[in-house]
Amino acid sequence: MVEDKSAFVAFERVQKSYDGENLVVKDLNLSMPKGEFLTMLGPSGSGKTTCLMMLAGFETATHGDILLDGVSINNIPPHKRGIGMVFQNYALFPHMTVAENLSFPLEVRKTGKSEREEKVKRALDMVQMGDFAGRRPAQLSGGQQQRIALSRALVFEPELVLMDEPLGALDKQLRETLQFEITNLAHELGITTVYVTHDQTEALTMSDRVAVFDDGRIQQLAPPDELYEKPQNSFVAQFIGENNTLDGVVQEIKGDTCIVKLDSGDIIDAVPVNVTKVGERTRVSIRPERVEFNRDRLHDDAHTLKAEVLEFIYMGDIFRTRLRVAGTDEFVIKTRNAPDQARLKPGQTIEIGWMPEDCRALDA
Ligand SMILES: Nc1ncnc2c1ncn2[C@@H]1O[C@H](COP(=O)(O)OP(=O)(O)O)[C@@H](O)[C@H]1O
Ligand SMILES: [Mg+2]
Repeated sequence: MVEDKSAFVAFERVQKSYDGENLVVKDLNLSMPKGEFLTMLGPSGSGKTTCLMMLAGFETATHGDILLDGVSINNIPPHKRGIGMVFQNYALFPHMTVAENLSFPLEVRKTGKSEREEKVKRALDMVQMGDFAGRRPAQLSGGQQQRIALSRALVFEPELVLMDEPLGALDKQLRETLQFEITNLAHELGITTVYVTHDQTEALTMSDRVAVFDDGRIQQLAPPDELYEKPQNSFVAQFIGENNTLDGVVQEIKGDTCIVKLDSGDIIDAVPVNVTKVGERTRVSIRPERVEFNRDRLHDDAHTLKAEVLEFIYMGDIFRTRLRVAGTDEFVIKTRNAPDQARLKPGQTIEIGWMPEDCRALDA
């Protein structure tokens, strides 16, 4: 592969093994333009932190190259890479005041005293912590400590910032506030960010692009809407958002549609995403909010199947209904709570449908 010189951050054929036997990062290729906010999302143990540590320089790749601004950084030590970092457990120096914590990365870089003071003040103001310069970390709440950690990562104006589950220890409300602050700051300052999380909502709301990791590989790399609406395989479809699946066999493939015979005997149309031949087993995936059951709202091209209502849950803004469809009891549909939207009752039989393009034939 040719080195991508236009990328600001690039992983090229990167592999990592800790024990010389098992690869925890299998073949990572990734390139990020300057200013991008990219999130590595995946279950625990999928290799996200390892990738971040290699980029930071605390771990070395077993194979392949990592490039920063077109230059291989494999032999550059961490402190010379000019990268800001934020972790889940704050890692502030407990014996230093907030101002001293922020001043430290500048002292290491031999910044003069008056410039240091000016930059510390600016970095604290940026995270609305200007009044806390004299406090020690123990005198701050979790959210305040994390703001300081963020401001310490930004104080020396790095071009690249790495964040590993920085909001993992905070409660939901604070997490949402800080998600918003982090993305705003990153975009305002034009910082390139690699963010790691196992929380799909966080990934979808914060990122320009998301790399979904599983088993040491990127399963899909795409902007949030594409990831949700056009998952490339069953893992991504299941991991991102809620999803209905029906298993069957490919009967026919013609261009951008295929015919699938479900195990229940029902025959449906789908988009062939990663099925390649007739006779192959497939798992079709349909999002709950793309299923319609009001006859007059169903488009002529929509496919219909008989369904029995098993459970109806009123959730305020939406109704969540669980159905028995084509041999599964776990088919879920979500409908908006509109004045004219029917409330279904368990035991009721309905006809459901969806547009063929909302039904994707994936790996079994
Ligand atoms: N320092 C290490 N030594 C040995 N194995 C490690 C080390 N760090 C991580 N691993 C293993 O590598 C795999 C990937 O871990 P990690 O990169 O931390 O995943 P994630 O951040 O996605 O949870 C896991 O199986 C983990 O146990
Ligand atoms: Mg991790």
